[in-house]
Amino acid sequence: MEKLIINGGKSIYGEVEISGAKNAVVAILPAAIIASKGKCCIDNIPNIEDVNCIERIFEYLGCKVERKEGALTIDSTVVKSLNANTEHVRKMRASYYFLGALLGRFKEARVELPGGCPIGSRPIDQHIKGFEALGASVTIECGAVSVKAERLVGTSIYFDVISVGATINVMLAAVFAEGVTILENAAKEPHVVDVANFLNSMGAKIKGAGTDTIKITGVDEVVGCNYSVIPDQIEAGTFMVATAACGGEVKIKNVIPKHLESISAKLIEMGANVIEGDDNIIVKSDKNLKGVNIKTLPYPGFPTDVQQPMSTLLAVSKGRSVINESIYENRLKHVEELNRMGANITVEGRVAVIDGVEKLKGANVKATDLRAGAALVIAGLVAEGTTVVEGIQHIDRGYPNIEEKFKHLGGDITRAKCD
Ligand code: EPU
Repeated sequence: MEKLIINGGKSIYGEVEISGAKNAVVAILPAAIIASKGKCCIDNIPNIEDVNCIERIFEYLGCKVERKEGALTIDSTVVKSLNANTEHVRKMRASYYFLGALLGRFKEARVELPGGCPIGSRPIDQHIKGFEALGASVTIECGAVSVKAERLVGTSIYFDVISVGATINVMLAAVFAEGVTILENAAKEPHVVDVANFLNSMGAKIKGAGTDTIKITGVDEVVGCNYSVIPDQIEAGTFMVATAACGGEVKIKNVIPKHLESISAKLIEMGANVIEGDDNIIVKSDKNLKGVNIKTLPYPGFPTDVQQPMSTLLAVSKGRSVINESIYENRLKHVEELNRMGANITVEGRVAVIDGVEKLKGANVKATDLRAGAALVIAGLVAEGTTVVEGIQHIDRGYPNIEEKFKHLGGDITRAKCD
């Protein structure tokens, strides 16, 4: 077990390079298993634990994986097992994408129920609804989901809730479904578009990703391809918010500014200076920012994944802010830790009322999920004195080299073994 030790109170300056998007890569990698010919060479892979987990799952299923300088080559021409019965599946959420991918290619799969951050109930009923609509039978027994179909046939599926996971998983299964599949009320997140682009590069026929209606025309076969993952919208958002909170000036490089509009808009509303370039964003802040209200929503709304880092910024901004977390019922657990550092936040259900304080004070705190971890790191950078963040295995699942990136910007942050 490791921890981060942060001596806070310094403004941050310089440039930071954003890595490949976690929530895109964790879908693109499992999707590669549908290629029955050729290898997939996927570039801009972030160095995070979730990617390590997926590599282990591929090996468990008998596929060949090779990692070199930020790229991963997957040879799935031979798949020896359709039963992903390994602890690595249970360690992360996105392992459920092996279900849709294997169902599409082999018409059969068994995958343990996924893990992931404890931020709410996270059902998979919409994934199941989609698989069944395509003609599969789905059973959940002994902690695993089994899917099986004689054949998959395209149809129209209207999702009851907007779900990134269900949209991608059903899209994966539908690549090989006979005829046309239409997904309605689909998620529009950038990573949904990235997965569709990757599948099309392999030979799939998918149109409309990025809108709420996705049309998939079934094909018989797809082949390996070269592909580069988009930059991480959430990592970029985290550094934008961190700069606003710590004060200073940071150029956030290798981003798609369009993906960050909801975050830029809020920071500008608070009084920060946000300058968009072609593939970078500069954030300047004198820390003299005013509170705002946030409601998390599916893309293009304000992302739930940036809500926790944002709550740290609002904790040290002037006046009252209100956060309404509309996606997950349990994504405000980090607030207790922020209050230990001197924040003044009350939570009722999915709503946090934040009365801004002048400063936070260093304390020993613990991350209980990935973005809570990012929120606490930012709090440590802002706070006077020393903060020790434990539970950083959650942070390592989704942020590559977080302490190195902040150190490069002038943050005093080091990693150490827990006693
Ligand atoms: N939902 C259902 N039924 C389903 C699926 C989802 O009711 O079958 C509900 C969920 O309970 C939630 C909402 O729909 O209230 C949205 O869930 P979604 O399926 O979109 O989330 P997910 O696919 O499980 C992904 C990201 C999350 C991110 C959400 C929302 C991955 C691996 N995870 O989760 O990322 O918060 O979309 O954008 O892509 C993170 O990166 O920290 C993280 C948690």
